[in-house]
Amino acid sequence: MTLDIVILAAGKGTRMKSSRPKVLHELAGKPLLQHVIDTSLALNPDNIYIICGYQSELVQENCKIIFKDNPTLKFIQQSEQLGTAHAVMQVLPHWQKDKKNSENIENKKVLILYGDVPLIQSGTLAKLISALESSPSAELGMIVANFADPTGFGRIIRDNQNKIIRIVEEKEATDQERKITEINTGIYLVNANFLIRGLSDIKPHNTQKEYYLTDIVTPESKIIDITVEEPREVYGVNDLEQLYQLECYYQENLAKKFRLSGVAVSQNVIFEGNVEIGAGSKIGPNCVLKNVHIGENVEIKANCVIEEAVIQADCKVGPFARIRPGTELSSGVTVGNFTEIKNSKINQRSKIPHLSYIGDTVMGEKVNIGAGVITCNYDGVNKHKTVIGDNVFIGSDSQLIAPINIGSGAFIGAGSTITKDPPENKLTLSRAKQVTLERWERPKN
Ligand code: UD1
Ligand code: MG
Repeated sequence: MTLDIVILAAGKGTRMKSSRPKVLHELAGKPLLQHVIDTSLALNPDNIYIICGYQSELVQENCKIIFKDNPTLKFIQQSEQLGTAHAVMQVLPHWQKDKKNSENIENKKVLILYGDVPLIQSGTLAKLISALESSPSAELGMIVANFADPTGFGRIIRDNQNKIIRIVEEKEATDQERKITEINTGIYLVNANFLIRGLSDIKPHNTQKEYYLTDIVTPESKIIDITVEEPREVYGVNDLEQLYQLECYYQENLAKKFRLSGVAVSQNVIFEGNVEIGAGSKIGPNCVLKNVHIGENVEIKANCVIEEAVIQADCKVGPFARIRPGTELSSGVTVGNFTEIKNSKINQRSKIPHLSYIGDTVMGEKVNIGAGVITCNYDGVNKHKTVIGDNVFIGSDSQLIAPINIGSGAFIGAGSTITKDPPENKLTLSRAKQVTLERWERPKN
């Protein structure tokens, strides 16, 4: 079998009340469409056809940045959105080549997904694929679901042998049909030949004057179906409230997985992108973790924001720390409250416990940074590097004017503005001498 995937993503998403195309709105820091493409790629298809319409250039540009011109992805413009079947019809010219080689088209299966149904899992799709493959006479595999509230979905009509014979859209359903709680998720796996024939028969004979893809289901179709267990896998996003509901589900589900793998995740932690956390680690409340690798036995205390960073085993971070892209904390590093670190490598067992800004820095081992130390890395035009050797002690409220190289074992007196490289194992300080004026008197009024 060969597999092509078609992702319908042409709709504007009017109910999002946003000028941004719906499929580019983010769930867990990733565009909705990226979730569907990632899941699709996991199935190793030959082609992924993405049907774009509203702001298609923006959608394509976004995908090209994320997927770096992956040749499996092919974008097709649907200039007018005349319905779900019309969207799939846009792929037909691409199958012409295959049609010439009857064996190719005979072996091809087409999976239809939606750019605004982000949480469908590759495991569920793999079940659909194996169900259709193990039933050689079937032409169409469907994922259905049972919803207590089926409002808005097409309903599944079965005959008295329990065979699916039709799908009726809510707008065309009779009162009796609307009571049916078995719904069409819209996800189908179809033999390419059956799909191509089916599409040619579809006419816009409905109240919406649209080409309905659901019309490929007829009493003659040889259908198998599987029922999805987790309804949220097939929920579509139509407005920001539905997006928020799916986000909550996604976050809670991921937190649960981490807890079961030995990571104590507190309330209201937000995971975005690719997050890995080693066993024995603790994540305090209200943290945001985006594309981070966290080793074992790390403690991230409350209210930290950590992005594009690596935090090795046994580190302690926070509360209220911000770790920005390009940062690596080696094992046993302590970063305390109100400290910001950007694009820096901090070596083992160094401590930056309070109120510091460390940027574009390479810091050695067992360095101690006093409260309020700032690396002045920006001269208004360019960024410069700070290098701090092992066992350095920087007194509180010092400014290190980059580029600067602080020798190993150096001591910097508190309140210094360091502009020249301090040597190894010496005390360096820059400070106006303290004076006391003996004859001073408090002003009188
Ligand atoms: C569709 C199904 C319905 C099913 C539901 C599941 C049809 C006729 N109905 O209804 O049975 O229960 O999905 O969510 O298929 N799109 C395009 N081009 C178009 C039209 C739509 O790309 O011309 C895209 C939309 O952007 C959207 C998806 O296809 O991502 C589904 O279209 P939508 O109009 O939401 O279909 P539903 O009415 O929800
Ligand atoms: Mg819909």
